[in-house]
Amino acid sequence: MASEVIVNIGVLATMDDGEGLMGLRRDAAVVVEDGRVAWVGSSPQAPAADASFDAGGAAMIPGFVDSHTHAVFGGDRSAEFDARMSGAPYTAGGIRSTVAATREASTEGLATRTRHLLEEALRQGTTTAEIKSGYGLDVDTERRLLEVASRFTDETTFLGAHVVAPEMRDRRGDYVDLVAGDMLAAAAPLARWIDVFCEEGAFDVEETRRILTAGREAGLGLRLHANQLTMSGAAALGVEMGAASIDHCTFLSDEDVDALAASDTVATFVPGAEFSTRQPYPRIDRLRDAGATWALASDCNPGSSFTTSMPFCIALAVRDMGMTPSEAIRAATHGGARALRRSDVGRIAVGARADLALLDAPDPVHLAYRPGVPLVSHVWRSGVRTR
Ligand code: NIG
Ligand code: FE
Repeated sequence: MASEVIVNIGVLATMDDGEGLMGLRRDAAVVVEDGRVAWVGSSPQAPAADASFDAGGAAMIPGFVDSHTHAVFGGDRSAEFDARMSGAPYTAGGIRSTVAATREASTEGLATRTRHLLEEALRQGTTTAEIKSGYGLDVDTERRLLEVASRFTDETTFLGAHVVAPEMRDRRGDYVDLVAGDMLAAAAPLARWIDVFCEEGAFDVEETRRILTAGREAGLGLRLHANQLTMSGAAALGVEMGAASIDHCTFLSDEDVDALAASDTVATFVPGAEFSTRQPYPRIDRLRDAGATWALASDCNPGSSFTTSMPFCIALAVRDMGMTPSEAIRAATHGGARALRRSDVGRIAVGARADLALLDAPDPVHLAYRPGVPLVSHVWRSGVRTR
């Protein structure tokens, strides 16, 4: 099918030209051609196309851009979650149990699981997902994880510096050398980005700087797990090094917020992690006042945030972080694209990829207003309707 016109869209959130933060257009139509958006305008004026779809007055948004997932892993940590809900604290240590299960899993077994998670995400409107390695922590397993990730996305991230590998616990200097050396060399051909978990119990600021510098020299873009569990120097380092995004940002100082606002670095919030670790939610007010850019992502992983649902993250961000529904929906689409330095996704405009989510709702605000309800009724990815 070469072209399709989607007519009778009650409210179209373009995240581009239009009213307010979501770039709204009413009674709109979209023409999709060869995987791209070819025309956006008013429904009564829509041109003819090879096929037509009637949206029945429902709301449409761009497909979600989930810029932070750890969607390749083995094992299960529901018992750890259960213990946490009885009062046990979250620490980076749990990562090692997933590492053991992941190393044991076959490559095809891992890929089957990742496919399942991404299909689950797609049903909920996610059309672009970043995927990190980080549960291998040896050269061969990290390479295998990135090979699996690259079957599903171009947004692959090398996270060999997730924690120090268990067998090298007493030789952390050697582990940093390995990550910045042989592991990076094996990962770089399969990765677009490098990420480090810069935190107490993981890697300190100087180790992080060294690993990110090596990643940049290998041609990778920079991202960072920053200020998740403590107020550390990680966020400042990420901004200083020009990272595309610093993620989590549960604890930010006023200086961090000002530095972010003066930079091209996006702050990516992952409220699924606060939900699942019972940490305090970060508030958005200071970032809004300072004019910083932020994104929302799922952080899908078996330890701290086992959700693929961007609508769930939107609802949390609105309820607990002080985002307006428009801010949260923009952060989950356009914001995610910014965090991945992409302009072809996260908005509905001529030339953009035709990634569209139709809602069983008259207004996008329903994504937060009706939490827990599966509102995504139809999804187009690169112009092809997948459901
Ligand atoms: O983003 N912070 C580090 N990594 C993951 C958690 C990993 C785990 O607990 O397995 C995160 O929260
Ligand atoms: Fe993460």
